[in-house]
Amino acid sequence: MVQAPIKQDRIPYQDLSDSLIKALKELPELAPEAIVDGNFIATSFFEALGFSLHERIPQFKTGPGEQKVDYALRHNINEDIFLHTKANPYVLVELKARGTNLTPESPSYKSTVKQLKRSLLAPNCKTVQWGIITNSKHIQLFRKHGKVIHPATPCLEITPDNVGEITYRVRQKIEHTPKALTVAVYNNKGGVGKTTTVINLAAVLTRHKKKVLVVDFDPNQKDLTNSLGIKPGNQSLYDCLEDKKDIISLREVISPYTRKFHGGISLSFDVIPVDDKLAQAHEDNLRKDLSYYSFRKKLDSLKSDYDYILIDAPPNWRLFSISAVYASDVVLIPTKHNNIFSLQNAAVTIQKYIPEIQEIRQKNTQGIEWGATALPIFFNGERITDAAKNRVKDAIAAIITKANQTPKFDLKPYFKPVDKIFELPSNAHIANAAFEKIPAAYKYQIAYSYYTELAKEYFLQ
Ligand SMILES: Nc1ncnc2c1ncn2[C@@H]1O[C@H](COP(=O)(O)OP(=O)(O)O)[C@@H](O)[C@H]1O
Ligand SMILES: [Mg+2]
Repeated sequence: MVQAPIKQDRIPYQDLSDSLIKALKELPELAPEAIVDGNFIATSFFEALGFSLHERIPQFKTGPGEQKVDYALRHNINEDIFLHTKANPYVLVELKARGTNLTPESPSYKSTVKQLKRSLLAPNCKTVQWGIITNSKHIQLFRKHGKVIHPATPCLEITPDNVGEITYRVRQKIEHTPKALTVAVYNNKGGVGKTTTVINLAAVLTRHKKKVLVVDFDPNQKDLTNSLGIKPGNQSLYDCLEDKKDIISLREVISPYTRKFHGGISLSFDVIPVDDKLAQAHEDNLRKDLSYYSFRKKLDSLKSDYDYILIDAPPNWRLFSISAVYASDVVLIPTKHNNIFSLQNAAVTIQKYIPEIQEIRQKNTQGIEWGATALPIFFNGERITDAAKNRVKDAIAAIITKANQTPKFDLKPYFKPVDKIFELPSNAHIANAAFEKIPAAYKYQIAYSYYTELAKEYFLQ
């Protein structure tokens, strides 16, 4: 993966900020895209982001066809001058005219985001980690990790007063790209396959050479800890999360899960298990001693060690699930097509719980961070017959219609047309694996192929 090296020879930040403010103030109100580009983006904005002239390619070809994106950026690495090699882009920028409406939810905002996402996933853009849309009035930064694209900031309004600060924050994010994608696996319903998904996804991603950490954040059940047969070490996760002085690192509560295979191959992923102190903690003490911030804060220092951090969240909306979602980039929601409650709970998670966390995250970061985003739901379990398909179609249509009433929420991107919703089939080996202390995906080819499909659908590019 190409990293963006931080350059030392920076122009003092205040000068960059002054130049941004001047350029923005002088932009005509209805500046067409070429003027936004020539008088603001190419002249001041890229400089302030830290990308020199040789580190930008205008009209970058994203694939074999005619598709292009307005700019690709990447820092030069020694002799590898991006403008010359045109290889391994790191940031894509989709520009619009100043008059194009980029307020969130406007049709032109939606089509611009769609256009950026298409570019981010295009064949020549595999190494890209960030995407920006801007018309000089609004700006939004998106993060790309494998196949996942999620907002890294809200769509921010740019004014002469804040343009320096916003550009600086965007630059900070790009220069400190976390390696990991953090995924909370959550549904406010038990028995939908959260724990099973976390375990098998970890196994499959590990086999695809990804470095994975899984977190058992369901201390009442301890299912993940028990079904992998993990013995917690001496340090308690409770003490680590309670520790406000930041003396105990989350690394101290990690236990590796290693599996040796025939032929001497051994695969290993890391686990944060539930220990006795955490499992036996009384709800009142939990509320008193722990806050949902502390887990994110502790986890941040691990985000450069892993490709994926998967969190198994409990089926309620209390401390552990709130902490899990607050710490995450995206939320993966298993549902059952034949269980209306699991579908309704997914809808509540997407339209109520996750936006609440987004709001808190924005408040805690002076409006600069977006918070977690829901991935589209998937069905876990029994195969869908045609009759069942019609039933679930009606059920989902009703859920979407209800969400479209006040306050209006568009659930369609999360509940795709039923035919397109990913299905992870039911399988006896998967069901029995909890007793075997080994992920089914490590022991049975069929389970491996099912979860590889899941990993490819959502995560691997
Ligand atoms: N695809 C599957 N095929 C067969 N059994 C499954 C599958 N997914 C989950 N299960 C089983 O369903 C039960 C509930 O799954 P679990 O992962 O514990 O759900 P949750 O964590 O949401 O409560 C477990 O017994 C598990 O083994
Ligand atoms: Mg569970």
